[in-house]
Amino acid sequence: MIKLLSHLAHVEIAAPDPAASVAFYERLVGVRAIASEGGKTYLRSWGDYYDYSLVISHGAEPALVEMAWRTTSDEALDEAARRIEAAGVAGVWHDSGFGHGRSYTFTGPFGHTMKLFWDVDKYRGEGEFASIFPDRPERRTRHAVGPRFLDHVTVAARDVRGFAEWYRDVLGFRIMAYTVLDEAPITVFGVITTNEKSHDLAVVLDTSQRPGRVNHYAFWVDTREDLLQAADVLMENGVEIEYGPSIHGIGEQNFLYFRDPSGMRIEVNTGGYRNYVPDWQPNDWKPSQGSNNLYRNGAMPMSMTESFPPDAAPSATEEGLHPDTAEEIIADALANPYAKQGRG
Ligand SMILES: [Fe+2]
Repeated sequence: MIKLLSHLAHVEIAAPDPAASVAFYERLVGVRAIASEGGKTYLRSWGDYYDYSLVISHGAEPALVEMAWRTTSDEALDEAARRIEAAGVAGVWHDSGFGHGRSYTFTGPFGHTMKLFWDVDKYRGEGEFASIFPDRPERRTRHAVGPRFLDHVTVAARDVRGFAEWYRDVLGFRIMAYTVLDEAPITVFGVITTNEKSHDLAVVLDTSQRPGRVNHYAFWVDTREDLLQAADVLMENGVEIEYGPSIHGIGEQNFLYFRDPSGMRIEVNTGGYRNYVPDWQPNDWKPSQGSNNLYRNGAMPMSMTESFPPDAAPSATEEGLHPDTAEEIIADALANPYAKQGRG
């Protein structure tokens, strides 16, 4: 298979009060609205190479509307669409979109809508936004979190391995790692990538009946000090830190999680390894090995298992477990994985 996708270009999220969300992102996250059109507001981080990386639109509940990937070429866009349709999924072509050319939009087998395009407008800041450096699309900002660019999306699906394998087989993502519970052979997390990062798409186990849910999406900052300062600024401005700052075992990124006014979870991360191995074989991590927390000393808050839109009707999992049993096992395993297994 030729390489089809290059990287994540933007995400669109729905918020019940888009104006409140836009204000929050501009004031505290430190991204900048460049346009509002057709009920959508387009925002950019200073280092985004294209016009924008975040779109906020109105919705009754916080949700992921779509995630957009840039292909590696115009031919790769056609080939990706061909492969998606050969896999039994019918998408839709559009002649153009805001800031990009023709695109192919489809909804994957677990309900997540993805847009693919090749032609895109490159951003070049002018006036007060012009950088003195040739490679920077815009002058650096240290306003609030001030992320450089968008990093990844973590969705929720009822079959973590099935999700990862579909995106590997159809679109060429590499599968980088899984997390399997200590207590039971339940895969609760997986990371996949289109490039050298540990992941630009990740998936958590969803025990609900709602397809297409998202757990969080993430911005990148350059250094751990930037991340720590971001946490400090958020705290000083009344934004609760949900989890972190700490370091994930899988991917080894420094992480920080908080919520926007709609309740949507945002991550800020930095660091981590680069992996170019084309035939990488994913390892199974256990929570007790520090899959989520490299230092094995901080239990993940249970609120982190909430995905969006909120769960309306819990149901049985793919493993056929009674949902209450599955949820109890997962909750118990994630709440305090180190106590039970020691630090081996
Ligand atoms: Fe993440």
